[in-house]
Amino acid sequence: MAKCPRIAVVGSANVDLTTFSDRFPKAGETIFGDRFDLGFGGKGANQAVAARLCGAEVFMVARVGDDLFGPATIKNFEKLGIDASQVKVVRGVSSGVAPIFVESSGQNRIIVVKGANDTLRPADVDAAAAVLKSADCIVLQFEIPLETVYYTIRFARENGIRCILNPAPAQEIDVREIADLDYFVPNESEAEAIGGVPVRNVEDAKRCAEKLLGGGIRRVLITLGEKGALLAGSEGMQHLPAYFMKSVDSTGAGDAFIGSFATFLGEGAPEREAAMRANLYAGLSTTGVGTQKSFYDRERFEGEWAAITKG
Ligand code: RIB
Repeated sequence: MAKCPRIAVVGSANVDLTTFSDRFPKAGETIFGDRFDLGFGGKGANQAVAARLCGAEVFMVARVGDDLFGPATIKNFEKLGIDASQVKVVRGVSSGVAPIFVESSGQNRIIVVKGANDTLRPADVDAAAAVLKSADCIVLQFEIPLETVYYTIRFARENGIRCILNPAPAQEIDVREIADLDYFVPNESEAEAIGGVPVRNVEDAKRCAEKLLGGGIRRVLITLGEKGALLAGSEGMQHLPAYFMKSVDSTGAGDAFIGSFATFLGEGAPEREAAMRANLYAGLSTTGVGTQKSFYDRERFEGEWAAITKG
């Protein structure tokens, strides 16, 4: 039986307010949307939920606001079996929220208001040190202050814990601060923003990965949506094709990839297989509406994986 990995996510928790519409209003215009969905989101929380649904033991370090959404977010973690003892309510601050707009193609546009996520500080990482030290893997994103991200990367390195960074949403960073990472996992636009090389196809992604590796990052895994993913390290690069899906909402697919990848890797799957499984897990998440609620549990996922690998 595979090892049950223990994964800590130091990151964001939002509430997603998703509007589905064929088109979006111009300035000064009011139009009718087709549908609305309210759900728990945030890149950190989504990655934690994906890891949990894939079977990992998951520990979340986050901050929420003292509004309706804060306590509900904590309850959602607890309901899913995620340890939320280090998810605290911050007085006088709103929870993170994300108005999301989804077109009929499934493509999304997101505005994140960070709210309480922006109050997660290095001291909060210290406060969670005991449990973080017991993790096999720490997962980070960019919806919390960068100083906290950098601090946590150093913490992971000093304690010999695998560390995965999803640089989303893209921001200007000091690449030297992230050189100690085990995995840097951007999508095309994040890779482009940080690597400074345009990424429109697999060949571009290879050039961008080369630049990122040259900057001192050890392993780069660029997610390319329907083009799959590119895995790059000092030994070379491998392109992993995607699995075809009829996508209705791609929101959170990157988070599904990262949470599942951390779990499969932590269970001991070879890196290439872990990334291919994560490709499928992310693809499946685009066939449902919303973020966390579109994620498959392990049993359903294994059914799909078996059908694809044996078929
Ligand atoms: O990656 C998708 C997530 O981005 C959404 O859940 C939203 O909250 C934003 O953080």
